[in-house]
Amino acid sequence: MNFLQVKELDQTYIAGTYGRNNLLVQKGAGASCQDEQERTLIDFSAGIGVNSIGFGNPAWVAAVKDQIDKLAHMSNLYYTQPMALLAKALCQRTGMQKVFFANSGAEANEGALKTARKYMSERYPGQRDTILTLINSFHGRTIATLTATGQEGMHRHFGPFPQGFVYAKANDIADLKEKLNPRVGAIFIECVQGEGGVIPLEQDFVKAIADLCHERDILLMVDEVQTGVGRTGKFLALEHYGITPDVVTLAKGLGGGLPIGAVLFGEKTKEVLGKGDHGSTFGGNPVCCAGAGAVLEMIDDGFLAQVAETGTYLRGRLSQMPGIAEVSGKGMMLGATLVEGLKNTDVIAACGEKGVIILAAKHKLRFLPPLTITRQELDTGLGVLSGVLAELAHQ
Ligand SMILES: Cc1ncc(COP(=O)(O)O)c(C=O)c1O
Repeated sequence: MNFLQVKELDQTYIAGTYGRNNLLVQKGAGASCQDEQERTLIDFSAGIGVNSIGFGNPAWVAAVKDQIDKLAHMSNLYYTQPMALLAKALCQRTGMQKVFFANSGAEANEGALKTARKYMSERYPGQRDTILTLINSFHGRTIATLTATGQEGMHRHFGPFPQGFVYAKANDIADLKEKLNPRVGAIFIECVQGEGGVIPLEQDFVKAIADLCHERDILLMVDEVQTGVGRTGKFLALEHYGITPDVVTLAKGLGGGLPIGAVLFGEKTKEVLGKGDHGSTFGGNPVCCAGAGAVLEMIDDGFLAQVAETGTYLRGRLSQMPGIAEVSGKGMMLGATLVEGLKNTDVIAACGEKGVIILAAKHKLRFLPPLTITRQELDTGLGVLSGVLAELAHQ
């Protein structure tokens, strides 16, 4: 089928929830993909942080194919090996104690929110029931995760919302302390606000949160759906801050392209959810777990050092580009603020036409390339971006 035929089908039969770019992607290898006319595009988006090891990584493909041949699905009422092995690998990698497997970031976050609620109801019955999240955060699009998301614009149309959420300003310790009423029993943060504009939390702010949580037995829950699995040059972004969390959520890059989410529990929370408290038909699917297992095998210390180095290189190149005023973020999760007069949507559209896929986050350009992107792919894409910025600046 050609592009227009697919577009017509899509627009006729698929709910219009996405603002799609005019591009039909058919296949990919590494950080490059091809449209239906075999035009090659460099992908600086990794499917919004999902294709952590690029398209079609051979070790990942082999693990997934091998598992499909053996067993594609079995219910959670029985044991399966890929899930058990992946849980062990995740715990060993992060120092967490137990795992619940979900299928997406929002679902992982639902699991975290339910864990917080049950912890509070058991430990502080009638006294605590509230979860504090940050203004400008993003935690998902289910009703509860949307409620946790501190962006009023996204709440329009979808109320009434569950009770028991309060919101504090990011990087504002005084505001956080003010919002921390006695009913709050959990604080849920992204170390780098991704959808909110690639804004890292400040060291002091995160340290203050960790101290308050420790002093008051408040759960420290970290949403690593976008930042986790090596994206920022550490396995978890929270490692940049030296904090010990009670709950961590993962998704996106974990499966290397297959849908999987995970809730990781620390010492305080590892026994909170018991039989019948939570579940998911597809959660821990053997094929997704085999793919995630292959991703984890690849992300060793040497790999992470490479991510940090590539991130530094990318940041340096972006910082020097005319048209870019400021670069934010950590590792290979970067945001670029454009100089006045340039619009990110124009830059993204022009780059797409010239064969480079770039994301937006609020008014910024957002860079989430596959962690395995080669220097050559990076340079080719950055060359195109730099040309587009120069062209648009002269219009
Ligand atoms: C920090 C964070 N949490 C949760 C989500 C929701 O993940 P999903 O789209 O897989 O439900 C996202 C997605 O962008 C995210 O960036």
